[in-house]
Amino acid sequence: MTAEQSAPPQDIRVGIIGVGRMGADHVERISRRTKGARISVISDYLRETAEAVSATAPGSRVVDTPEEVIAADDVDAVLIASPGQFHREQVLACIAAGKPVLCEKPLAMNSADAFDVVRAEHEAGRASVSLGFMRRFDAGYGELKDALEAGDLGAPLLLNCKHRNASVLPGFTDTHMVYDSAVHEIDAISFFLEEPAVSVQTVMPRSSEKAPEGLHDPLLFLFRTASGTVITDELWVSTDAGYEVRTELVGSLGAATIGQETGMVTTQQTGSRWGGEVPLDFRPRFVAAYDAEVQAWIAAVADGSFVAPRSATAWDGYVAAAVCEAAEQSLTADGPVEVALQNRPA
Ligand SMILES: NC(=O)c1ccc[n+]([C@@H]2O[C@H](COP(=O)([O-])OP(=O)(O)OC[C@H]3O[C@@H](n4cnc5c(N)ncnc54)[C@H](O)[C@@H]3O)[C@@H](O)[C@H]2O)c1
Repeated sequence: MTAEQSAPPQDIRVGIIGVGRMGADHVERISRRTKGARISVISDYLRETAEAVSATAPGSRVVDTPEEVIAADDVDAVLIASPGQFHREQVLACIAAGKPVLCEKPLAMNSADAFDVVRAEHEAGRASVSLGFMRRFDAGYGELKDALEAGDLGAPLLLNCKHRNASVLPGFTDTHMVYDSAVHEIDAISFFLEEPAVSVQTVMPRSSEKAPEGLHDPLLFLFRTASGTVITDELWVSTDAGYEVRTELVGSLGAATIGQETGMVTTQQTGSRWGGEVPLDFRPRFVAAYDAEVQAWIAAVADGSFVAPRSATAWDGYVAAAVCEAAEQSLTADGPVEVALQNRPA
C-alpha cells in the first residue's frame, strides 16, 4: 500500500454563501451530522450574521464577498443559501471556477436566466450543479420512486399531491403560492414521472375564512405530462394546523400513498395508542431529507461525480422555472396554459 493510499481521507471543505435561516441550518448539519465534511469559509451580506454562525462552526473563517468564498483555496465545494435573486450569478461563478455547488432552490428568478446556467454548465463540459429540492431525499419519496422504477404500480395515471402550511408571512400572494409552494410538487413531477408537466391549469375553490386578504387559499393546480399523466396539486397555506405533505400515485396496477406517518405505537397501562404529533414547522418533516441530501452531495464531491444520483440538476431547476412561469400565467387564464421548454443540450 502506498503512503497516498493509506492516508486518511480529507474532509471536503465547504464554503457557504448566505447563512440566514436555511444557510445556518446547513452549517449546523455539516458541522455536526455530515460525515467527511466541514465548513471552512462563510460569507453573508450581513457580516455580523456570518460571524455569529462562524462561531458555531469550529475552524471556519469569514470573508466579505461570495466571490472570495468561491475563489478560496480552502473551499472544495460551495453551498449557496442566499436569496434566490443572487443564485444565477453565484452558480455561474462556481461553474467558472470548476467547483461543485449545491444551490438552494430556485436556480434563478426566471426560466431564461435558469437556462443560462444550463448552457454554462454544458459548455464547461461536466455536471457540477446540484439543486436543493430536498424532497428527492425523503425516505417516502425514495420508496415511491423505487416502486415506480420496479414497475410495481404499472403506468402512472394520476399523481395526487397535497401541501398544507399552518400559516404564511404577511404579503404572501397567489404568485408566491406558485414559486414558494407548488415549485416543490413541480419538481416532484420531474422526479417521479421522469417527464415534465407540459400544461397547467388553475382551479380556485371558494377561499377559507382564514385565508389572508387577497390570497386564494386553498388553490388547486392541474398539470398534465406529454404521456397523459394528470397531477393534482392542492395547496392550502393558512390551515392554522400542522404542516402536511402527502402524495398518492395512482398507477395502472395499484396505488401508493406517502406522507401519512402514523408515528410510534405504544401499548401500556396508562393507555395504548398510535400516532404522533404533526408539527407546524416544515423543518421537522424534512430534516432527514435535508441531512440525506447534503450527505449524498458530499459523497458525490468526494468521489468526483459532483452530482448525487437522484439529485435535482441544473436542468431540473430550469424545468421548474419554466413550469412555474406557466403556472403563474394560469392564475389568470381561462383553461390550460402550455409550458414553453427549450431543447435539452445533448
Ligand atoms: N429547500 C427548501 O425547502 C427551502 C426552505 C427554505 C428556504 N429555501 C431557499 O433558501 C434560500 C435562502 O432562504 P432563507 O429562508 O434562508 O432566507 P433568509 O433571508 O433567512 O437568509 C438569507 C441570507 O442571505 C444573506 N444574503 C443576502 N444577500 C446576499 C448575497 N448577495 N450574498 C450572500 N448572502 C446574502 C442575508 O443576509 C441572509 O442572512 C432561498 O433561495 C429559499 O428559497 C429553501
